[in-house]
Amino acid sequence: MAMKTVVLGGKGMLGSVFTEAATSAGMKVTSLDLPEFDITDADQVAGLPSADWIINCAGYTNVDNAEQERELALAVNGTAVQNVAKFCANTSIALLHISTDYVFNGTVKRPYCEDDVPEPLNAYGSSKLAGEQAIRKSGAEHIIARTQSLFGPSGHNFVNTIARCLREGREELQVVDDQISCPTYTVHLAEAILELLATSYRGIINISSTGECSWFEFAQAIAAEIAPDAVIKPVSSKVYNQSAVRPAYSVLSKSLYEQLMGKEMPHWLDGMRTYLENGQWV
Ligand SMILES: NC(=O)c1ccc[n+]([C@@H]2O[C@H](COP(=O)([O-])OP(=O)(O)OC[C@H]3O[C@@H](n4cnc5c(N)ncnc54)[C@H](OP(=O)(O)O)[C@@H]3O)[C@@H](O)[C@H]2O)c1
Repeated sequence: MAMKTVVLGGKGMLGSVFTEAATSAGMKVTSLDLPEFDITDADQVAGLPSADWIINCAGYTNVDNAEQERELALAVNGTAVQNVAKFCANTSIALLHISTDYVFNGTVKRPYCEDDVPEPLNAYGSSKLAGEQAIRKSGAEHIIARTQSLFGPSGHNFVNTIARCLREGREELQVVDDQISCPTYTVHLAEAILELLATSYRGIINISSTGECSWFEFAQAIAAEIAPDAVIKPVSSKVYNQSAVRPAYSVLSKSLYEQLMGKEMPHWLDGMRTYLENGQWV
């Protein structure tokens, strides 16, 4: 019988790609999002349909705005996740929840492992950590998949921003070089999640691309594909005066994923090139 999944945040950047991938894989998928479904509405959560898995891709994801909208960020990423987890525990539905590298403070100069101690630097990271903690306490069967720096169709993302600037004829761009992460293509992440659902693994697991780079190096790589003559200049994040402080180094270690799945995630350059070649950013 086909596996039944309910995808929350199904219209978002990851949720829409996951919905498509799960449907193509033959799963019976119910995809829910605002305005019809609000994860902060306890009655709506209590009325979620029966399923084998709930995949929670819903989230308050504006990292800078979260500094001013702390309560809303916590309501969506913390309290609502707690409600979903309790629902899952009561109904014996397994929960796969998406979390973030921003639960870490970025001072460890090596990739973060699943059991490193979180210490978020900003309100978004704190709200995501609250969600993780609520799931772990809930008694629900769960996987918490931490990922980072997503790009893909149906969403605002760094590749779109840089590629569009270059396409519009901007000859010079300044990009921060003091934040190191690992850009991850949502299509690759969705495939990895589907494979993970078929395993018996439960708990926290890091899933992001192989490799690492600064936003400056990422922009250089994008420019090399679509506007090789453009000049990309490195600048300090201090120049941008963003509301939220971000970790300086938040690459996630994939050792556990690689051990479990017997393979590496695709490299971020492969994801970027595939995304640009498919023209999904236009
Ligand atoms: N993007 C990244 O770089 C990144 C990195 C690490 C982890 N993550 C995590 O990955 C997950 C998916 O992120 P994403 O990039 O796909 O974000 P996204 O494009 O913003 O998708 C999130 C979806 O959740 C929906 N949503 C917001 N509030 C909701 C509510 N109250 N009830 C129901 N749905 C609600 C959003 O709807 P609206 O658009 O209408 O608000 C949106 O469709 C999130 O948990 C995020 O924290 C993302």
